[in-house]
Amino acid sequence: MSSLMTDLSMEVAGMHLKNPVMAGSGETTMSHEGIAAAIDAGAAAVVAKSTNESEAAKRQLASAEYVLLDDRWQAVDEPAAGRALSLLNRSGLVDQPFEAWLEVLAATDRLARERDAYVIASLIAGDPVEVVRMAGAIEAAGVRWIELNLGAPHAEEAEPGAITAAREAHSVGELVASIRGAVSVPLTVKLSSEGDPVGSARAAFAAGADAVCLTGRCLAFLPDPQTRRPVLGTFAAIGGGWALPLTLRWIARARQRLGPDRPLIGTNGARDGLDVARFLLAGASAVQMTTAVFTEGPSALTNAIDELSAYLTRQGLSAREIVGEATDAVLSYAKVVPNNEDGTG
Ligand SMILES: Cc1cc2nc3c(=O)[nH]c(=O)nc-3n(C[C@H](O)[C@H](O)[C@H](O)COP(=O)(O)O)c2cc1C
Repeated sequence: MSSLMTDLSMEVAGMHLKNPVMAGSGETTMSHEGIAAAIDAGAAAVVAKSTNESEAAKRQLASAEYVLLDDRWQAVDEPAAGRALSLLNRSGLVDQPFEAWLEVLAATDRLARERDAYVIASLIAGDPVEVVRMAGAIEAAGVRWIELNLGAPHAEEAEPGAITAAREAHSVGELVASIRGAVSVPLTVKLSSEGDPVGSARAAFAAGADAVCLTGRCLAFLPDPQTRRPVLGTFAAIGGGWALPLTLRWIARARQRLGPDRPLIGTNGARDGLDVARFLLAGASAVQMTTAVFTEGPSALTNAIDELSAYLTRQGLSAREIVGEATDAVLSYAKVVPNNEDGTG
C-alpha cells in the first residue's frame, strides 16, 4: 500500500498523529460503533459528537433534518455524486445521559490506543460552569484529548442556554481559560468563520488552547420557490466542497498572523485526499472530515489517507514538509508580475 511509502505522521498539540486525517464530530461519531468504524478506517483521531448538560440541546437532535442539494439547490436522494453536493441541516447534541456517553468515550479511546489513534471528546458550551465540570470528568475518565466547539452555527437558533457560541475574542478567551484551568489534556478550540476567526484564535491560544480548529460551517437560509417557504422550515447550517477555499483563506491568515508554530486543524470542505493536501499546504497540521463520512461512510477516511499518501509519494515529500508551503509563498496583489512582463502575456 502506498501509505507505507511516505511519512504521513504529524505532531499536533503535543500529540503524535499517524496521519493528518481525523473524523470530524457529527452524527457519524455519535455511537460506539460509529467511532470504532472511523478508527478502523484508519483515522488518526476521531472527534466524537458534541455534548453538554442541556436537555434542550439533546431534544434538538430529535428534530434534526438533513437535505443534500445539487448545484441548482434542488434536493437529491442519491448521495453518490457527493463532492458536488451541499448539505443543509439542523442538528442537536448527543442524546444520551453524560455518564453513559463518558463510558462510550473512554471505551472507544481505549480501542483507539491499540490502533495508534485518539478519540477526542467534544464539548459545546451550554452553561459556562457545567462545561468546565464536564471537561474535568472527561479527563478523569481517561480520555486523552478534548475539543471545545465555540463556533456552533446553530447557537443563535437553539433554545436560550442550549448552545453557547463565542464570536468575540474576549469571550473565547474567558471560556478557554476556565477549561484550561480545570484540565491538563490537550485542548483544541473549534471556531466559527463568522466574526474574527484569527482574533478568536489568538485569544484561544493566549488562554491556553493547544490547537485551534478552523472553521465551523455557516448558518444559511434557503427559500424553496415551489412552496415559498424556507427549506427545512428554519435557518440551517450549510456546507459543501465549495467551502474549501473559503476555509483555507482563514487557515492561511491564521498562519500568517499567528506564526507557523501555532497548531491549526482544518474543518469545512475536505472531501478527499487532495483536499487534505490543500489544507496542509495552507497551514493545517490535521484535517477533519465530517460530511464525506456522512454521505460516503468511513471508507471516505481510508480513501483520503490513501490518496494523500499517493500524492506525497509523487511529490517525494512527507506530510510535515508541505504544511504551510502555499501560504508561505502567497504574494500580495502588488507583487504579482503583470502578464506582459513575465514573458507569458
Ligand atoms: C450532520 C452534522 C452534525 C454535526 N455535528 C457537530 C457536532 O456535534 N459538533 C461539532 O463540533 N461539529 C459538528 N458538525 C460540524 C462538522 O464537524 C464539521 O466541522 C463541518 O461539517 C464542516 O466539515 P465538513 O466539510 O468535513 O463536513 C456537524 C456537521 C454535520 C454535517
